[in-house]
Amino acid sequence: MPKRQLMLALDVGTTKVSALVAEARPDGELAVLGIAATPVVGMRRGLVFEVERVALAIRDAANRANSMAGSDLTQAAVAINGDHLTITPGQAKVSLKSGVIRDEDMQRVLERAAHVELGAGREVVRVIRRGIAVDGFRGVADPQGMVAHTLEADVFVVTGLSTVIRNLRHVVNMAGLQPLELIPAPEASALAVLSAEEKQVGVVHLDVGGGTTGVSVYRSGQLEYFGVIPLGGESITSDLSVGLGVVATQAERLKLEHAAVASEREGTLEVRAVSGQSVKLIPIKEMQEIVAARVDEWTDYVEQHLQRIEWTKGPAAGVVMTGGGALLKGLGPYLETRWGWPVRLGTPIGLGGLSDLSRSPGYATVVGVAKAMASHEQSRTVESPWQRVVQFWVNLWK
Ligand SMILES: Nc1ncnc2c1ncn2[C@@H]1O[C@H](COP(=O)(O)OP(=O)(O)OP(=O)(O)O)[C@@H](O)[C@H]1O
Ligand SMILES: [Mg+2]
Repeated sequence: MPKRQLMLALDVGTTKVSALVAEARPDGELAVLGIAATPVVGMRRGLVFEVERVALAIRDAANRANSMAGSDLTQAAVAINGDHLTITPGQAKVSLKSGVIRDEDMQRVLERAAHVELGAGREVVRVIRRGIAVDGFRGVADPQGMVAHTLEADVFVVTGLSTVIRNLRHVVNMAGLQPLELIPAPEASALAVLSAEEKQVGVVHLDVGGGTTGVSVYRSGQLEYFGVIPLGGESITSDLSVGLGVVATQAERLKLEHAAVASEREGTLEVRAVSGQSVKLIPIKEMQEIVAARVDEWTDYVEQHLQRIEWTKGPAAGVVMTGGGALLKGLGPYLETRWGWPVRLGTPIGLGGLSDLSRSPGYATVVGVAKAMASHEQSRTVESPWQRVVQFWVNLWK
């Protein structure tokens, strides 16, 4: 019987840790066998701040996903997030000794392309392949076995702050798990929800989390840009808490149940005071103004990222949003009006098994981490970040 390919994926988000146990099926589908999310305190804007509390949440989510799947996986691929993540383009060209492109040549050119200036305190998280050229012909999808004199590679090297990376690995270890590869959260969530056609014709992807927003642009089938904004749905909650004089849990409930962008709704809402039985009246208009101000500021930040792209026309496939923050009522229509592009919610695709929960936009990152693993059948721990990068490419190439 063929060996079953099970994997554990983790997303240590600002508001929740998600864990997913999945099986990579031979037909390319990912079967979800176990999925769990545990609320977390101790993360800020995608970064670990309170190690023990975060470790407990990781352990809880992973245990529940494992027990649902009847598995006992301890090696996990983990999403990494935060505005410390940046991309640097890298290129390399190698001459082919044998005249035929082999694994070693591909490995050599990708290794060289990934040698970019890292900057102090930074390390490689991941190398994203963008384009391969054979004897100057660009856009070759599978050059293996082709006869050529030269092979060129274009990559994006995703780098991050070493201290953030070390702490993420440390907290996963403290939870009793071994972190394998780290997958940038924006890349993972895009992998979960975007189709090849959307990436081909052009699409903007926004992963709107609690403390971060990932902004990615795909065109001509490739990643063209990504950046992370240290702002997400939590800032709306804290603005509501301060602006309306209610505690954070009440502000969160008001946001989930009543807040909407560009809403004309009037009247008042009753909120029970924290101590005692008295009731506080919240003017809806005031609440919506607070939400609108924050969403306006957030949109300005997103636009600063989108302005770095040269657009002749907008993205033909529009904007696809994931993350819990994308569920804010009225956000999609607001962005459609402001940008003139279609905006939709992205739900994970290509899933089987227990997929109801995993089809929610809030689980896109953890699903994408599993998909990234499934696509290159990573199955072992390797020591250094550099080895991991090389191993990744070796696997992908096969
Ligand atoms: N229905 C909803 N309406 C508005 N906001 C929502 C809704 N559901 C969830 N959210 C918000 O989504 C945010 C959490 O999203 P998500 O779970 O994607 O974040 P995360 O992955 O923990 O954080 P990050 O990606 O920033 O590290 C919270 O701020 C939450 O209030
Ligand atoms: Mg997230």
